[in-house]
Amino acid sequence: MMLPTLASTLLFSLSLLAPVMGGVVTQKSESNSCPVRYGFLLPRAFDVMDVFAPLDILQALSRQTHLELAMLGRTREPVSTAPVSAAMNRFNSSFFPTIVPTHTYDDDPPLDVLIVPGGAAARSPDLGPELVYIRRVFPKLQYLITICTGAGIAAQSGVLDGHRATTNKAAWSTITPMGPNVKWVSPARWVEDGKVWTSSGVTAGLDLTFAFVRAKYENGTAIAEAVAGTMEHVMDMDWRDDKGFGAKYHVPVQN
Ligand SMILES: *[C@@H]1O[C@H](CO)[C@@H](O)[C@H](O)[C@H]1NC(C)=O
Ligand SMILES: *[C@@H]1O[C@H](CO)[C@@H](O)[C@H](O)[C@H]1NC(C)=O
Repeated sequence: MMLPTLASTLLFSLSLLAPVMGGVVTQKSESNSCPVRYGFLLPRAFDVMDVFAPLDILQALSRQTHLELAMLGRTREPVSTAPVSAAMNRFNSSFFPTIVPTHTYDDDPPLDVLIVPGGAAARSPDLGPELVYIRRVFPKLQYLITICTGAGIAAQSGVLDGHRATTNKAAWSTITPMGPNVKWVSPARWVEDGKVWTSSGVTAGLDLTFAFVRAKYENGTAIAEAVAGTMEHVMDMDWRDDKGFGAKYHVPVQN
């Protein structure tokens, strides 16, 4: 009587596990190639959607595979999205949330991917600690991702030099001079250049992140389609299709 009971218990346990295991993402053929440890840079006056649009997709991905998140600030004090200068807040609005970092740049947690958002932050004259941190962490990363004018922050750190990259088309003339040695690409919704992935303006961060999930995770295409479906977002599958924003903002066709 013992053996059949054990066997049926085992079968029952396996059948319970099966649906869970079916949804588990296995690593791609090269071991440890799927990025696991993500960090978001939080400079003062970062754009909210540059951070939380990619984060929302990756959080959904984290229900299919193990991921770890670090929110990185200069200190563990809350980081505000408020611009530093009063001139950039003409109506004295108090409409700026704060995000509490989990790590500081000095903690330097091990990361596979660093995501750099833009916003008013990209035009801040006080980015010293962010630029030092990006330069220090870049060689250790599998991937650096920039969203919108976050490319301007990464460009100022020098790590985009020699890379193909793009940025927000409405901000093209102010951001691209921050990286005179970057091969700026337009038209582009996003650009992949080896370990460097860069997106165009704000919502292009959704399309970049979906493309990244499709490319870098086992079953990534199915997961991206499922997540995009629940978000009711139509994924842009063509990195060159910038929805006409290059032409709208008179960005020269280049690279
Ligand atoms: C692939 O992803 C889809 C959507 O999340 C899921 O339904 C399916 O079970 C996954 N397949 C495997 C083999 O992981
Ligand atoms: C700006 O608003 C704050 C309250 O949010 C108020 O204390 C301050 O006096 C205002 N400054 C100006 C210049 O109106």
